[in-house]
Amino acid sequence: MKIIDYISAIMRKIALLFAMVFMATALNAVTPKVLGNRHAMVGVDVVGKYLMLPVQESVDNASVRVLVAGELRQSFNVRLAVDKIDYFVPLDISRFGSDKLLLDISFRGNKLTPDAIRQFVCWSEMPQGNGFETANKERLRPVYHHTPPYGWMNDPNGMFYKDGLYHLYYQWNPYGSQWENMTWGHSVSRDLIHWDALPAAIEPDALGTIYSGSCVVDRINSSGFGEGTVIAFYTSAGQNQTQSMAYSADDGRTFTKYVANPVITGDIPDFRDPKAFWNGEAGMWNLILAAGQEMRIYSSYDLKQWKYESSFGEGYGCHESVWECPDLFALNVRGTGARKWMLVCNTGGAPGGGSGTQYFIGDFDGHKFTTNQKDALWMDYGKDHYATVTFDNAPDGRRIALAWMSNWQYAGVVPTKQFRSANSVPRDLDIFENDGTYYCGVVPSRELLTLRGNKVKHPTETCEIVVDLKGTASIVLSNQKGEKVIMEYDSRSRKFLMDRNLSGNTSFHKDFPARTIAPVRGDMKQLRIFIDRCSIEVFDSEGKMAMTNLVFPSEPYGTLTIKGGKATVYSIAQ
Ligand code: FRU
Repeated sequence: MKIIDYISAIMRKIALLFAMVFMATALNAVTPKVLGNRHAMVGVDVVGKYLMLPVQESVDNASVRVLVAGELRQSFNVRLAVDKIDYFVPLDISRFGSDKLLLDISFRGNKLTPDAIRQFVCWSEMPQGNGFETANKERLRPVYHHTPPYGWMNDPNGMFYKDGLYHLYYQWNPYGSQWENMTWGHSVSRDLIHWDALPAAIEPDALGTIYSGSCVVDRINSSGFGEGTVIAFYTSAGQNQTQSMAYSADDGRTFTKYVANPVITGDIPDFRDPKAFWNGEAGMWNLILAAGQEMRIYSSYDLKQWKYESSFGEGYGCHESVWECPDLFALNVRGTGARKWMLVCNTGGAPGGGSGTQYFIGDFDGHKFTTNQKDALWMDYGKDHYATVTFDNAPDGRRIALAWMSNWQYAGVVPTKQFRSANSVPRDLDIFENDGTYYCGVVPSRELLTLRGNKVKHPTETCEIVVDLKGTASIVLSNQKGEKVIMEYDSRSRKFLMDRNLSGNTSFHKDFPARTIAPVRGDMKQLRIFIDRCSIEVFDSEGKMAMTNLVFPSEPYGTLTIKGGKATVYSIAQ
């Protein structure tokens, strides 16, 4: 071939490629009608299941209303891309049962003009499709921890066990990886480790977005909705926070909102996170919720009418910030026949700074919680353990907890993209006594043992390290880039610390670099350290100390240097 033919062939190919790209872009583009400085409308001919919305995390939220023949069918907020697309989120447009939709979009910001809105990059890339890729592609996305399929997640919600399945709902934003549009996402698992994502279970309505709450299995049909009905209690976050209920006849897959919602109202702004439970000792249902900086306790016989019983909080524990996400349950005191009640209170002002889980151990008669424990005790002394609550109806009398592995100080800016935040590994709780004081015992749930693979020489990005201690010890995880996490146990002062100042990427927020310190209630003989790409959870095997911290290394920590103990590393494969 002559050189000239060769060049023209290449030119033709390039032209064809351009045409294809242009056609694809044209097909993916939408044409907005811009109606003013902050308002646009987009007509959509529905050809696929999803409309992919381009998101730019750094811009303001736009409010989108989905209209069918002038009727409002859904509204939500999304950071529609202005000059750069970070990722896409899917809007299910098949659910409206119409081949035409109108998106009525309001933008925020003072400097907007119709011309500026016309230039937004979001209009050029709004394709439709029938699937949405949720495979785990991010380098630092955990492998054996629960994460949402995509988008933002905070608190675990509504956890219950029924007929062999653990159900986990969570505070979810289906339209971006930052907090917004609170919806109950839903996952199920047979072993607390392998989770399958199901469709969202409870979505915002005219009473508000769906904040945290709980589920109970109504075995005795107190509610009249049927034996074994799953009943959810959640906060409707609207003009004020109120408590609503919803019931499910298909084991928590779909819910019907109760016609007489809300079922509990208050008179203060922070009034949320209802946790309901059957109180066998008192023969009635109880519910505890967070109200400002106290917990309010209610009782009921039919799950619909709730009677205020008492409040707990003033003069007890840490009051640096609003109290959130309570839980209340009875536990055995290790090695004795005694039972005590534990009141869980998630709040800011934790020892590591920011979010944490404090607890109180005392007594509860269905009406009032009493304790002589005045000071705060914390369930986990790391920085990334919040919104901890437990499963309803767990088998074998177990009390299984999950925590959201993040901290409100920096949760919105941790360096992940398609998803943001994971839940902790499941933990079994009990109570033990040390020097005359009761403490919460926290051990990794036994299901985690099934993950243990081969013994390996060096730590990997997903592994468990078991350290047999002889006393004071130092454990350092490091990589070729000079990044490291330092852990130390001082058996004399009974303190354990983890230092993540040099752990990798720490610069995304000033409160991320940290050194967390835990008091150890007794002597530790063995540590179990769980690493899952961006998290390190350390437990005393006997439950006397727990510490959970996120890390964002630029490559896995492949080296373990240990003094004062003997380590065995197990690979973990999903
Ligand atoms: C705790 C919390 C809850 C609230 C939810 C909102 O992290 O602030 O009190 O219900 O998150 O997403």
